[in-house]
Amino acid sequence: MLHALDTRRLRLPAEETTLSLTDITALAASLGAYDGHERVWLGRDESRDLTAIVAVHSTVLGPALGGTRIWPHESFEAALTDALRLSRGMTDKAAIAGLPLGGGKAVIVADPRRQKTPELFEAYAEMLTALAGQYYTAEDVGMTLADADFLGQRAPNVAGTTRGGSGDPSHYTARGVFLGLKEALRRRHGATGVEGLTVAVQGLGSVGWALATALHGEGAKLVVADLDRGRVENAADQFGAAVAGPDRIHATDADIYAPCALGGILSTATIPEIRAKIVAGAANNQLATAEDAERLAARGVLHAPDFVINAGGLINVAAEVAPGGYDRAAVVEKVERIPATLAAIFDRSEAEGRAPDAVARAIAAERVTRG
Ligand code: NAI
Repeated sequence: MLHALDTRRLRLPAEETTLSLTDITALAASLGAYDGHERVWLGRDESRDLTAIVAVHSTVLGPALGGTRIWPHESFEAALTDALRLSRGMTDKAAIAGLPLGGGKAVIVADPRRQKTPELFEAYAEMLTALAGQYYTAEDVGMTLADADFLGQRAPNVAGTTRGGSGDPSHYTARGVFLGLKEALRRRHGATGVEGLTVAVQGLGSVGWALATALHGEGAKLVVADLDRGRVENAADQFGAAVAGPDRIHATDADIYAPCALGGILSTATIPEIRAKIVAGAANNQLATAEDAERLAARGVLHAPDFVINAGGLINVAAEVAPGGYDRAAVVEKVERIPATLAAIFDRSEAEGRAPDAVARAIAAERVTRG
């Protein structure tokens, strides 16, 4: 049976199901990362090995849209905190990008290399179907285009699929990050060329690899790190990249540090060791705490806020659910506007003497408040 505390907002599967769906908003509210979420759901299905959290931070500007992360978190609290922080960030990301969407995110607690089964995805599709109207999902870490296609055949609220037209969002994410990185260069050095500069790329997944390819194509020298040895070896072969340990890449003697793996990597532990003068990458929630933005600024490091420059994937996915359907030219045009958005944030940051991240969050909050 499907258990739900608020059946008014749920479309229940007609057939019998082993999925149990619970409103855990009150539980989430006890965590520091809660930050006024509208609703948080837990989906459990023991027989199909599903533990999933869907966090809906805000639907003020539109239905919440945010990908599903599949990751073997060490505890339920860690998974819930991750979902809440990611979901919160999506509200800001959509608002800054000027999209009629709210913020949400999902986490499936599983090892994407071993535990992704059709049964697990079928159970998750039932959960998504029940949340149609308040939450749209798409890819995040651990979820592929093929996974999104599988879910999209079973639930109405899946974007980033082949059928919807937008496909893999990571190419657009990487493009926006590349343009944002160059805008940060312009601000710092007055020119956008990456030729001869050293960029430390942390994480060579969908986005990190595409970013590394673009940087190499324009003559940047690369230092790379990934937990996956094969990806590191490929980068050394294809780009002549130097290799750093995953726990030391932030301290590389580089011009730019591009975090493209997981979040929380800009912290009191790493910031004193960062030698690059620019941090610009795709990873969501790079700052361990809001104060770390000011710590970076105090060290003279220019940080391009992640949710501003990694919005390309969201812009692409959002086009799939927009009235009129997917329009690739409109997506490209919006992604190419990311540097202008970042430049305006840098201007206000300089004028107000606040870190760019704080300014970007303030702008997003102003937009959400205006509704
Ligand atoms: P992915 O799963 O394709 O790649 C992540 C890569 O990081 C993997 O190769 C993994 O082995 C590596 N990694 C994990 N922990 C690491 C560590 N400690 N050190 C070095 N490497 C490590 O993920 P994807 O899609 O490339 O996303 C990367 C980041 O960008 C994530 O934080 C994601 O949330 C964010 N992002 C992705 C978007 C997209 O369109 N795919 C959109 C916006 C943000």
